[in-house]
Amino acid sequence: MFEDIFIDINKVENSRINSLDFENLNFGREFSDHMFMMDYANGKWGIPKILPFENISIHPALSALHYGQSIFEGLKAYRNKKNDIFLFRPDKNIIRMNESCKRMCMPTIPENIFMKGVKTLIALDKEWIPNTADGSLYIRPYLFATDEYVGIKPSDSYKFIIFTSPVGEYYTEPIKVKLETKYTRAAKGGVGRAKTAGNYAASLYPAKLAQEQGYQQLLWTDGVYHKYIEESGTMNICFVIDDVLVTPSEESDTILKGITKRSVIEIANSWEMKVEERKVSVKEIIESIENGSLTEMFGVGTAATIVEIIVLNADGKDYELNPPEKRKFSPKVGKYLNNLKKGRVDDPFGWVIKL
Ligand SMILES: Cc1ncc(COP(=O)(O)O)c(C=O)c1O
Repeated sequence: MFEDIFIDINKVENSRINSLDFENLNFGREFSDHMFMMDYANGKWGIPKILPFENISIHPALSALHYGQSIFEGLKAYRNKKNDIFLFRPDKNIIRMNESCKRMCMPTIPENIFMKGVKTLIALDKEWIPNTADGSLYIRPYLFATDEYVGIKPSDSYKFIIFTSPVGEYYTEPIKVKLETKYTRAAKGGVGRAKTAGNYAASLYPAKLAQEQGYQQLLWTDGVYHKYIEESGTMNICFVIDDVLVTPSEESDTILKGITKRSVIEIANSWEMKVEERKVSVKEIIESIENGSLTEMFGVGTAATIVEIIVLNADGKDYELNPPEKRKFSPKVGKYLNNLKKGRVDDPFGWVIKL
């Protein structure tokens, strides 16, 4: 399927890998030797290339900088003790990326080029994949508008890049979140479902206010009533209430369709745990905390993996949640996902691709 895709590869002369301290990786600060690049112009994609990771020069009128046509994805490659290398559900990332492309009026990326680009890049920089317990190689595909033009219209030219970054844990500890009822991440009919840069820019200010108060993340609510829970900054949100896995449904176009969340739901189904994807009101969550039926609250995402939430701040009050050691489902599913991603257990779902 990939044989006919030619990638022009220009390798680095000297790898930078010896300068990397695998035991002390800060998330998103280190970059592997190579990157993949492909330009779109005159209605078609150009030749895919892999080249040394380096600065790119841009025109001051680059349209992505002014009008925000910029989207991205995030996935990871894993390595186990036997040095086997795995990707987790990359097919889902390209499907979501192309959905973002459509919403942002950008050209879609051929799936086979994406897959071959990711695999070739990972194979080339495989030494950069940490094999520490919590390490992985974060893969960042992104696409942005490159017309050199001032004026609002969809760009005619684009650049697609994939680079990779060896990472440790995003959160090293369970986190505290603040329910956001003033600011809005996404409105119905807007671009909340797309993984587009502006969504993250819009979240920075309210997130900063919450961080100043000691909360690592926000828990976003709907943009109309601020009564229904949507998702958290870089992750979807799940609860266990009366032994049922409860999570806000993706029916509204305001929530990112998370691949980790979908995987957690499918695993829960396979373990015959009851799952409810539906509207989740703030009122229900507060009542469930108060009457003790809510036993787990956790975030799910590629970067964050499974992160336990131990405090929910709502209306100025801190609700202390069940401590992680008393939780049953989220630690178990987190461990299982980790084993799955590193090829340590059978993969009944067919999610893991061995390189
Ligand atoms: C806003 C938002 N929600 C949810 C997620 C989780 O999605 P996934 O599990 O596909 O990484 C992410 C991360 O990509 C995100 O940025």
